[in-house]
This record gives sequence, C-alpha cells and structure tokens, in this order.
Amino acid sequence: MRDLVRETHLLKDDLIMPVFVDANIKDRKEIPSMPGVYQFSLDAILDEIKVIVDKGIKAIILFGLPDHKDEVGTSAWEDDGIVQEAIRKIKKAYPDLIVIADTCLCEYTSTGHCGVVKDGVVLNDESLTYIVKTAVSQAKAGADIIAPSNAMDGYVAAIREGLDDNNFKNLPIMSYSIKYASSFYGPFRDAANSAPEFGDRKGYQMDPANRLDALREAASDVKEGADFLMVKPSMAFLDVMREVRDRFDLPLVAYNVSGEYAMIKAAAQNGWINENQIVRETLVGMKRAGADLIITYFAKDVADRINKGEVF
Ligand code: PBG
Repeated sequence: MRDLVRETHLLKDDLIMPVFVDANIKDRKEIPSMPGVYQFSLDAILDEIKVIVDKGIKAIILFGLPDHKDEVGTSAWEDDGIVQEAIRKIKKAYPDLIVIADTCLCEYTSTGHCGVVKDGVVLNDESLTYIVKTAVSQAKAGADIIAPSNAMDGYVAAIREGLDDNNFKNLPIMSYSIKYASSFYGPFRDAANSAPEFGDRKGYQMDPANRLDALREAASDVKEGADFLMVKPSMAFLDVMREVRDRFDLPLVAYNVSGEYAMIKAAAQNGWINENQIVRETLVGMKRAGADLIITYFAKDVADRINKGEVF
C-alpha cells in the first residue's frame, strides 16, 4: 500500500559521483575522514571509472590535486593539468559518461583560496580572469558540464562569455549558486588539499543564517546564464532547496557534502545508526525538498542497492 501512494523516488539517473584525481600519488589513497572514498592517480583513474559506469551511474564530478601550486593557480588551467589530462582519458574510454568539471582555484593556489589574494584580501574581479581560463581549458579537454564553485560575484556571466568566445556555446554551466560558508566541507579540504592558508571563505561564501540572500544568488545566476542551480551543503539547507525549486525552473542539484558523508559513516561504524536506512532517508529527503540531482559520495553504494532491486 505504501508503494502505491509513494510520492518521491530516488533513481540512479539522479546520482552524480565525485571523483578525486591526484598527481602526487600512485594507485589510490583512502581519505582518512571519508572511509570508502579514495584519491586516484591518473594511471588508476580508469579502474574507478569502470566501476562507476558498470553500476549504471551516468555522471561524475571531477576534482584535481595538482603537483604544483602558485599564487594564481596556474595548474588549474594548464593544458596538461591533472584535471585536463583526466578528462581526456576518461572521455576517450567512456564517451557516454557525463564528466562534470569542478571549476575552482582553491586546490591550485598556494593560499588555498578560491581566488587571487592581495594584501590578505581575495579579489573578486581579478579572480574571474583565472576562473574563466580554467573553465575554457576544461572545455577544451572535453568536459561535458562546467561547474564553477569559487562563488565569486559575476562568475557565471564571465564563464558564459569565455566559453562562447571559444566556440563552446552549447556547453552547460552548473553553478554552485547557493554555497554557504560551511564547516561541513572539512573532510573535503583534506581530500582536495585545499584548506585556506589564512582566514576563511566568508568573504565569498554565504552566511548559513541567510535565506533571502540565497534567492538573490539564484536569481543572479539565472540572469547570467546558468543552466543548473545548486544548493550546498544539503542536510541543513533543505528549506532553501524547496524555496529555490518553487521559484526557479532550472534543474536543481543538491550537494550532499563531505562532512555529511563523514558524520553518517562515523556513526554507522560505531554501530549507533543504521547506515543504509539513514542514507535512504537523507537522499530521499533531498528529492522531496525539490532536488533533481544529487552529488553524493554514497552514489556507488546507492547504485549497488538499486541494482539489487531495492526501491528508493
Ligand atoms: C571547491 C569546493 C569545495 C567543495 C566542493 N568544491 C570546498 C570549499 O568550498 O571549501 C566541498 C565539497 C564537499 O565538502 O564535499 N571550492
């Protein structure tokens, strides 16, 4: 009876799996604060992609850890940068897999900030130049979607113009539109080696107390030409997700972030919660709140369960 009147479903088509490619390691390395999630070398990356594709997951989002960093994040846009190499390799082997490129500088700058810094301040407009270069280089490497996450004002318009000027008029932009300055990103900053060297990201990421601010951010991204909107993190922001869903008609992405993953894993490892049930409740909750797609480190686990016949 419950199945007959069920309002919300989570499908494999809704899942996006994050993948870390690291220029500094051999094979793979587990991320201590994210059990079951690994960084992969360029040599090992296709082994992981095969696992993902074989489970029926249709999209990944790719993050890179470069072997050199500088003040402006040069390794983010080099032709032979780690992400560019990985995109080329993955698209050649699996042309049908949707490869989303996370477009940011924090993994590539020596300051660990998502833009360029002068006198201790992250400069919005100067940073746009570099984020556009990064997006264009990822597009040239074969990315299917550009996903800018550095949260600078005006980045969608700047990237759209950069892509259009370089003959990527049809390439969509998945903007991390509503990105809160959150402590839930802690484990990711280990995974991507991207913790800021000084200060925090409050100059460019949003205050978790704000709701109207979120609607303004979404509206400006829509106006600037975004093709997808995103709310990040997810669990503490489901009200925002619902409101964005109701007011805007673009596909909406929920980012179920690293700290949310780590909390569930840690409690489950202690035997304090039932991991499978909690994962289902959490992800279905995001769909109920209006998300169309979910970026989640649980994507492979969920796909396995769906493949075994479980209905989400
Ligand atoms: C890069 C970026 C971050 C995340 C995704 N892209 C970190 C940050 O903004 O500090 C976090 C993802 C996660 O926690 O899983 N700017």
